[in-house]
Amino acid sequence: MSYGHFDDERREYIISRPDTPLPWINYLGCEAYFGIISNTGGGYSFYRDARLRRLTRYRYNNAPFDFGGRYIYLRDNANGQFWSPSWQPTRHEAKNYSCRHGMGYSIIGSTFNRIKAETLYFVPLGENLEIWQLSVTNLGRKPAKLSVFSSIEFCLWDAQDDATNFQRNFSTGQVEIEDGVIYHKTEYRERRDHFAYFACSEKLAGYDTQRDVFLGAYRSWDKPAVVERGRSFNSLAHGWAPIGSHHVKLNLKPGETRQVIFLLGYHENPKDQKFDPPTSQTVNKRTVKPVIAKYLKSTTVESAFESLRQYWDRLLRLYQAKTPDRHTDRMVNIWNAYQCMATFNMSRSASFYESGIGRGLGFRDSNQDLLGFVHMVPERARERVIDLAATQLETGGAYHQYQPLTKRGNDDIGGNFNDDPLWLILGVAAYLKETGDWSILDAPVPFDNKPKTEKALYEHLERSLQYTLDRLGPHGLPLIGRADWNDCLNLNCFSDTPGQSFQTTTNKDGKVAESVFIAGMFVLAARELADIAERRGLNSDAKDYRKAAERMHETVRKHGWDGEWFLRAYDDFGKKVGSKECEEGKIFIEPQGFCILAGIGMEDGLAKKALDSVNNVLATPHGIMLQQPAYSKYYLHLGEISSYPPGYKENAGIFCHNNPWVMIAEAMVGNGDRAFDYYLRINPSAREKMSQLHRCEPYVYAQMIAGKDAPTHGEAKNSWLTGTAAWNYFAITQFILGIRPTYSGLMVSPAIPSSWKGFTVSRKFQGVRYDITVKRIGKGNRARLVVDGRPVEGNVVPRPRGGVTQVAVEATLE
Ligand code: GLC
Ligand code: GLC
Repeated sequence: MSYGHFDDERREYIISRPDTPLPWINYLGCEAYFGIISNTGGGYSFYRDARLRRLTRYRYNNAPFDFGGRYIYLRDNANGQFWSPSWQPTRHEAKNYSCRHGMGYSIIGSTFNRIKAETLYFVPLGENLEIWQLSVTNLGRKPAKLSVFSSIEFCLWDAQDDATNFQRNFSTGQVEIEDGVIYHKTEYRERRDHFAYFACSEKLAGYDTQRDVFLGAYRSWDKPAVVERGRSFNSLAHGWAPIGSHHVKLNLKPGETRQVIFLLGYHENPKDQKFDPPTSQTVNKRTVKPVIAKYLKSTTVESAFESLRQYWDRLLRLYQAKTPDRHTDRMVNIWNAYQCMATFNMSRSASFYESGIGRGLGFRDSNQDLLGFVHMVPERARERVIDLAATQLETGGAYHQYQPLTKRGNDDIGGNFNDDPLWLILGVAAYLKETGDWSILDAPVPFDNKPKTEKALYEHLERSLQYTLDRLGPHGLPLIGRADWNDCLNLNCFSDTPGQSFQTTTNKDGKVAESVFIAGMFVLAARELADIAERRGLNSDAKDYRKAAERMHETVRKHGWDGEWFLRAYDDFGKKVGSKECEEGKIFIEPQGFCILAGIGMEDGLAKKALDSVNNVLATPHGIMLQQPAYSKYYLHLGEISSYPPGYKENAGIFCHNNPWVMIAEAMVGNGDRAFDYYLRINPSAREKMSQLHRCEPYVYAQMIAGKDAPTHGEAKNSWLTGTAAWNYFAITQFILGIRPTYSGLMVSPAIPSSWKGFTVSRKFQGVRYDITVKRIGKGNRARLVVDGRPVEGNVVPRPRGGVTQVAVEATLE
């Protein structure tokens, strides 16, 4: 069954039936004001922080899954029939339903009883508001007398409190209405200096602001009393549940189209100018009125929409590929890059699987996200790197998460995830390679945000490395701490108490359990830091790091190899995890990927052997599973990983996040066929044809696809906010297509399928546009380069002379 299709020209996904297997969503906003919008108009909005500045209310884990949002009702006043053009919440069978999710906007509409209605939703650049531009057309032969009702439900700011603290919140809600604008001002009378507003471009026939008046007793959003009777009550919310609803009457001649603009916005007033007049309790609206007036004009709306299009066009043009595979092109050129920006903006906070009231920014997550967006927003990447480093502890350790509003480490979750500090090195290396901005290494950055503890960023990186060296276990491998990349491999937790957090409980002193994954990561990070040190002229540092990398490399060969693959870990009893000796969980994907990324096994054939094992044991048509065999019961000494039923999440699910590590490893050993095959298995566009099984959006990656042990093998979950976005982007653009920023220039080192005749990439790198044409003349993947007509040694395009902004590269693969 098909639910829609891609329109690559317009960079849209067009959903053509509303009852998608799961809500298929999009994001509005890319700076400070954000919204989540589903294909039926569901979702919510917030300013900066999804938990603390929530504008509109959303109910979690609802049935239907997606309920509550930006709902518009139309009513035919001749016969009293009413419906919603976005299908929800009335769910009338309409004609020509379509939802076009595009870059930062969505357009949702349908035709019912010869009335066509379509709404464009977006957030203009530089503003803290969202626009709903509704167009209504009378396709009939008779004049139509219509009513339009808008509706949103305000959240009383702190979304967590809003969902739980009713004894207070049922008494605090307040609104004002002036010139047809509904102002939501709960708590403004006391310590808040911000409010929300909901405005409409047309003359109102009425309004409502109290939910239960609008809906009527024992009714829901599918049949509000006000819409049914066709008239607002002009209710004024005092306590209970403030909402915003406008009523506009539209009389349309046959063929006539009319537009109605709604604005939902957030506004702050200076603390000493909150009220107008100052002695009153009335919101000072002088500062917001010009903004409202500006965006209620359709000419402003149109030019703001055009600016948004240009913004995305500029970002996406930085890397454009043309390959023989359309799924690759559309993900690389449009959707995967777009998703990387969503992970930059949202981290893991607000999606339909992340409630927005949960976690802060992950230290490990954010460093990895950087791989996907650093080329698009380098200045903001710099800021992110420094924010992250500023939460690092003096020991070199890291908080697992930090809060975006305060930028402080999150004490509730704490630290001791022993891989965390090393990700900072990989993040900074990616930043340096992309930007060449070496000055960042000298930036003074505090530890744990404490003033006067500032040290150059470079020293933070040294401490990250030292953190691992200070924590080696019995085999000389890194101690795992609470967990490594796999948050659910909790070898020191030993939790037998229901509900206890696997992430924060530690019942063993942690001096035994070791991680081969961290060992591989250490080798990679130490080599990266050595490269950095060398380029700064710190040769003795570089030598030390290389020595440390060599030593760990040897240790992995000695104690981290299981015969056919890399071992995963040693548990608290010193017993192997991820070994042929184990009954379950014999082989894990993570160390195969990361050890090879670090270069381990490249010379002695271990890499190829490990990759063959992955192919034989872990690969399925839906992607590569995390481990096998799945854990069939709970193991006290392994923790959360064994808490999941077999085939889900970390217990042998297909984690789309680490599949790219294997793609990269295959590319590194020169196996372009396998690398690309794995790439396509989890590519969302390539899976579009099985949407009924996959269920999540076909235009973005999900964190997980159920593994072969699950009854729903092939079903995806947790779309949008996942490190999967960055890693797949990194794997395809930098290793399979092989266009890779390095310290000495742009590398062209593809590992493409043997059947491909070639491809082209246009890539902007440090101010220069590289137009790269790759042609296959032999079967292998050895590249020879001709740059602006001249042959060049090796596979790195040298930096052009100053002033040159365009370079043509021809690469032949033999
Ligand atoms: C989730 C977490 C990530 C972790 C992964 C594996 O995606 O966000 O930090 O590495 O799960 O447990
Ligand atoms: C849970 C999830 C895991 C995630 C972690 C982060 O353990 O299963 O995937 O990484 O939470 O908070």
